[in-house]
Amino acid sequence: MNIGIMGTGYVGLVHGAVLSSYGFNVSCMDVDEHKIKQLSAGVSPIYEPELEQLIQRGIAGGTLSFTSDAQQVVQMSDVIFIAVGTPSKKDGSADLSYVQGVVQTISNYLNGYKVIVCKSTLPVGSSSRIAKQLNGALQASGASFRVDVASNPEFLRQGQAVSDALSPSRIVIGTDSDTARQMLQSIYSIQIARGVPVLFTNPETAEMVKYASNSFLAVKISFINELALLAEKVGAKIDDIAEGMGLDSRISPHFLQAGPGYGGSCFPKDTEAVVDIGRRNGEPLFVVQAQLTRIRNRSRRWLRRLAKRWRRTVAD
Ligand SMILES: NC(=O)c1ccc[n+]([C@@H]2O[C@H](COP(=O)([O-])OP(=O)(O)OC[C@H]3O[C@@H](n4cnc5c(N)ncnc54)[C@H](O)[C@@H]3O)[C@@H](O)[C@H]2O)c1
Repeated sequence: MNIGIMGTGYVGLVHGAVLSSYGFNVSCMDVDEHKIKQLSAGVSPIYEPELEQLIQRGIAGGTLSFTSDAQQVVQMSDVIFIAVGTPSKKDGSADLSYVQGVVQTISNYLNGYKVIVCKSTLPVGSSSRIAKQLNGALQASGASFRVDVASNPEFLRQGQAVSDALSPSRIVIGTDSDTARQMLQSIYSIQIARGVPVLFTNPETAEMVKYASNSFLAVKISFINELALLAEKVGAKIDDIAEGMGLDSRISPHFLQAGPGYGGSCFPKDTEAVVDIGRRNGEPLFVVQAQLTRIRNRSRRWLRRLAKRWRRTVAD
């Protein structure tokens, strides 16, 4: 099976390199020509353990290639993953301009049935809208084929991206098409055979799983951060509280480390985006909104504390 990846950032590159290591023919496309040159020479623009070795092995074995020729990738691929960025806009909603750009490119070059897979984190309803757009254009041009669009969100963590892609916590596939389901099942057959849980559902649910997971973790971090402030006031030790809580298997010790806020590029933008989705659909997510407010205040408080400490050091 030929696989195309549109966007060779964190997600696209790791995903493409891992799929090529399973023997699929993977072509990674990016508009950043400098990145493509670097990658074609076997140099990874990001550091992730094992990533550069995977890239070099894929290139040497002929299963992995990099190009900025979108037409070639679209026309040669049976399955095309969209893995471009979806940053936050000023109002908190997801900026879909990169995704729109890729969808337009795919639309321009479609030459037969393909499965288009949304790996980028997209607001609910995006996969169905993309399917409508692509199939609408095909119909208008008199084409005798259509495409399927699936949602397959990514859960990798930076710093352990390759091992997460090799052994993900779960695989979520959202599609209403049997053909798309079978093709994605065969793409992930190695992980599925190893016992990785797989959830088949509709595209809207798959899109929500990603936002629900990240916003839940963000709320958990904010909860322990809030508790840390109270602990300080009453003479309790937040690390011991977290340890005591984490020993309960229903709670788990993960994401219970109090700190200035949360790291990573996805939590802030995904929580902002899910709050925006709730607002637009008349179902405000009060809990997630409250943690966004709390995290902003907490980050400001830590900055003030650091500034105070720094001023004291300078004065000494
Ligand atoms: N980074 C993570 O840890 C992570 C984890 C899970 C999910 N995600 C989601 O995955 C998506 C991708 O994130 P990322 O961190 O890999 O993004 P990124 O910004 O690292 O990479 C995006 C790439 O897309 C390229 N691009 C932009 N427009 C293009 C076009 N028209 N055609 C081809 N390439 C184009 C850019 O040049 C860039 O190389 C986002 O929706 C993000 O929320 C990211």
